[in-house]
Amino acid sequence: MDILGLHLSPRKGGNSEDALAEFIRGARKSGAETEIFSIADHHIEPCRACAACETTGICVISGDDMGALYSLLTSIPLIVVSTSLFFYDIPAQGKALIDRTQALWYRRYSLKQFSTLRPSGRGFLLALGATRGQDLFLPVNLCVKYFFDSIGLPKTFDSLFFRQLEAKGDLKIRSDYMEQIYEAGLAFGRWRPQVGIAAQ
Ligand SMILES: Cc1cc2nc3c(=O)[nH]c(=O)nc-3n(C[C@H](O)[C@H](O)[C@H](O)COP(=O)(O)O)c2cc1C
Repeated sequence: MDILGLHLSPRKGGNSEDALAEFIRGARKSGAETEIFSIADHHIEPCRACAACETTGICVISGDDMGALYSLLTSIPLIVVSTSLFFYDIPAQGKALIDRTQALWYRRYSLKQFSTLRPSGRGFLLALGATRGQDLFLPVNLCVKYFFDSIGLPKTFDSLFFRQLEAKGDLKIRSDYMEQIYEAGLAFGRWRPQVGIAAQ
């Protein structure tokens, strides 16, 4: 598997799902093997800040859909996040997924296990919202920067941001946006991990 697409909005058939589908269509055209994890189809409990993972690197919460994700997040080299904005940031359901990677942060930074988990990789962010403020994407960009860091991806990454998209279907009718997304997916799908380059 080359690319994991994380769809972090709870709305099915919405704009960020359409964005991810178009990005992945491009990536597949480039020959990448892809998988999509959609938060709307899964249940992830929020982090309880119990601190158990601080010494073990393993989250104590079980019985939800996060368990299988840990190994995907630390092994698939290319990860694309697609999200809408709820109050300037990632919707709560998707944010729960990100918060649960605190266990991986401890593995990487406290337990020093991370170099054994992923040789190299790269992230990409697709984000969109209904309004048009200049600073609209600052919070999501920061959040995803440190999410990528937590799972061992570089803190610098490419992104596409789209404003003034609200109702379902608003993105799909913007052929200019759809083309940009497809092209970005094509380029992302061509990337392959460099053997011997350690995670940053
Ligand atoms: C609870 C909630 C909060 C929202 N907050 C924002 C916001 O802060 N800024 C913004 O531009 N859009 C906001 N929106 C609008 C959505 O980001 C927008 O409709 C987006 O296109 C939805 O994408 P989706 O279909 O992928 O979920 C909000 C929507 C909801 C439901």
